[in-house]
Amino acid sequence: MNQTDIAELYRLVKDFFEHDTTGHDWWHVQRVTQLALHIAKAEGANLALVEPAALVHDTDDWKLSGANGYPNATRMLLAVGYNNHQVDRILEIVEQVSYKGAGIDTAPSSLEAMVVQDADRLDAIGAIGIARAFAFGGSKHRPLYLPNVKPQFHSTFEEYKTAKGHTINHFYEKLLLLKDRMNTATAKALAEERHRFMETFLEQFYREWDYKG
Ligand code: ADP
Ligand code: NI
Repeated sequence: MNQTDIAELYRLVKDFFEHDTTGHDWWHVQRVTQLALHIAKAEGANLALVEPAALVHDTDDWKLSGANGYPNATRMLLAVGYNNHQVDRILEIVEQVSYKGAGIDTAPSSLEAMVVQDADRLDAIGAIGIARAFAFGGSKHRPLYLPNVKPQFHSTFEEYKTAKGHTINHFYEKLLLLKDRMNTATAKALAEERHRFMETFLEQFYREWDYKG
């Protein structure tokens, strides 16, 4: 890598999310970056690619990536000194990270993409994942749970994004599936604990829901 200022990239991305209204937040990006660095070290991945990729993984909507590339990520990466070739390699990772629905399997082609994808998915499960799911559901005015609505699975990304229903359903359509979709052994081990915590949470949730004294 040539002269790049990673500290400046942290500042740019943090500042970007402070002015963002789409609901993605800096704290998610910070957790994912920390997890990605931890996994990358354990797995021997290239930190010089993993760290910037994790930082910009949510700065552009993946659906625009085809025609328009990643304008926000590109601008910030160039601004802190990455050259065009490096930007391409970082964006190749970012492109492979997005979860595009349960029916669409996205197998990353590099160890670095596997690591960042694992980190992003780990932040969607466990205690943080539970909190994020209910925060997301609340922002869409969805009820916590509707006992008469059976778990629904959405095969396309559009279906998944626009799905009506309740937030508990999200555990069955996505969150409980993520453990088996981790790419690296390091992330699999971390996912086990987070997965068990979600199962415990659901058991307790149903017990309290049906409590009859
Ligand atoms: P990411 O930052 O991981 O790419 P998304 O934009 O897909 O995430 O989702 C942001 C957060 O909202 C995640 O924690 C995800 O699990 C949660 N979320 C997405 N869709 C739903 C839904 N239908 N119900 C509840 N939570 C959801
Ligand atoms: Ni993310």
